Amino acid sequence: MVRFSNRRLTATLICFLLLWLFLAVGFSSTASAADLTGRWLHEENTADGNTTQIVLVFQQTGSQLTGKIIFSWGELKISNGSTDGKTFHFDLMTPADDKNPAKYQGSIQGDELQISSRWPGNNNTEYTARRTSNDMGEPPARIEPPALHPVPYNGLAATPPMGWNSWNHFEGKVSDAVVREIADTMASNGMRDAGYVYINIDDTWEGKRDEAGNIRPNNKFPDLKALADYVHSKGMKLGIYSSPGPKTCGGYEGSYGHEEQDARTYAQWGIDYLKYDWCSAGRIYRNTDLQAVYQKMGDALHATGRPIVYRLCEYGMDDPWKWGPSVGANLWRTTGDITDHWSALDYTGFAQSDLAPFAAPGHWNDPDMLEVGNGGMTDDEYRTHMSLWALLAAPLLAGNDVRTMSAATREILLNREVIAIDQDPAGHQAKRISKQGDVEVWARPLSDGSLAVGLFNRGPADADVTVRWSDLGVSKTSDVRDLWTHTTIEGVRDSYARKVPRHGVVMIKIQTPRVVSK
Ligand code: GLA
Repeated sequence: MVRFSNRRLTATLICFLLLWLFLAVGFSSTASAADLTGRWLHEENTADGNTTQIVLVFQQTGSQLTGKIIFSWGELKISNGSTDGKTFHFDLMTPADDKNPAKYQGSIQGDELQISSRWPGNNNTEYTARRTSNDMGEPPARIEPPALHPVPYNGLAATPPMGWNSWNHFEGKVSDAVVREIADTMASNGMRDAGYVYINIDDTWEGKRDEAGNIRPNNKFPDLKALADYVHSKGMKLGIYSSPGPKTCGGYEGSYGHEEQDARTYAQWGIDYLKYDWCSAGRIYRNTDLQAVYQKMGDALHATGRPIVYRLCEYGMDDPWKWGPSVGANLWRTTGDITDHWSALDYTGFAQSDLAPFAAPGHWNDPDMLEVGNGGMTDDEYRTHMSLWALLAAPLLAGNDVRTMSAATREILLNREVIAIDQDPAGHQAKRISKQGDVEVWARPLSDGSLAVGLFNRGPADADVTVRWSDLGVSKTSDVRDLWTHTTIEGVRDSYARKVPRHGVVMIKIQTPRVVSK
């Protein structure tokens, strides 16, 4: 009996031991599968032959999730992250919106994550990421940029460059065929003759480098030299895009470590304009390196001997208006990316007044490309866009599909009187003269002694706006030319008042002493 009990006890103990072992092994394997700590890679092949990558770097402590997401253009820290072992979620504060974070959530399936992300103003994006090595996404070693020295002025952009850029409308869908058709259209619809001569290919043209390190276009651009020849044959010029980082903002090949070689290639192709976009350079360099890094490409372009307009695109970090000319730049972005919404235009355009002293022939502040005609704003808002950019002596780079634009869009882009303000040879930039609530008056002195003035209404309802001659330093009776209705009112004394539609503008030229315009 006792013996039997002992045997039973032993058997029971062995059963418990086995159960414990089973549970322990099972539990620990579930726990390790659910531990998100480490790196996860999402790769995507685009139709043009490029592969873009996103690396998620996670540190899991209990249910708390910290870490960062590495994009081709830079990295963002995650916040509010947590996981229950099966699912996870976190937020990302994005550069475009400091109030609304991007929202990420997902599920864990062994060594694979199913992720759903939603950026402010965008639809959900679904993707998969797989476990990857611990160095994935790390930038290459830093190449020390040369010491600072002045790069000679290239003699270009005596007035703000005008033309077209592919990004705002086409993004990754730009191609050789699109560029040819845009050139054909602009050569025949009056745009080229009005001054819009630069046809600029933005990001996503880049392919892989050949064995000698020469950059090659991807399959959307079979022959860039032939394309440049074509655009030149239309009496226009061709622009291109790159980054001082290893990758562009779209995740394509950048110029890092190949600056001189790329500049030579652009010159061989017959390129006339380079937009050089910071993007992933921010993962290697600090903001205090911006000037030296941009100087490197300035030197490289200068060394080619070809006149190439040089446009910096670093979103206004470290005040490029103070050092842009000394790195050989003709223009520099002063802001983050514009979008086709009134709030973006309002935020960007009206914040430029303090930069007026830095604009001059050959060297321009650039509040980003035009959105006129892209469909996200009313025609009144687009007239405000065009008028403000002209007053700011900003580059006028149309960003719409000019092949199919409406008559109203065409009329806005082709308003010769407004273009003439933008292109005034004195190159002074407008300043804000007065502000009362949503109503603002901006003025730009012109080379003939007259003044271009914008009466703006940033508010949600129509408003009466008055501009007083005394505020402008005008003492005499003047003629007022309305640059949108193309009419002149002669002999206006002391002030001028108009009703201005919501988000709209009345743009005038004040000619004094009295000159009768016909
Ligand atoms: C950045 C620039 C944009 C555009 C994109 C392309 O966001 O600011 O103007 O060039 O990159 O990827």
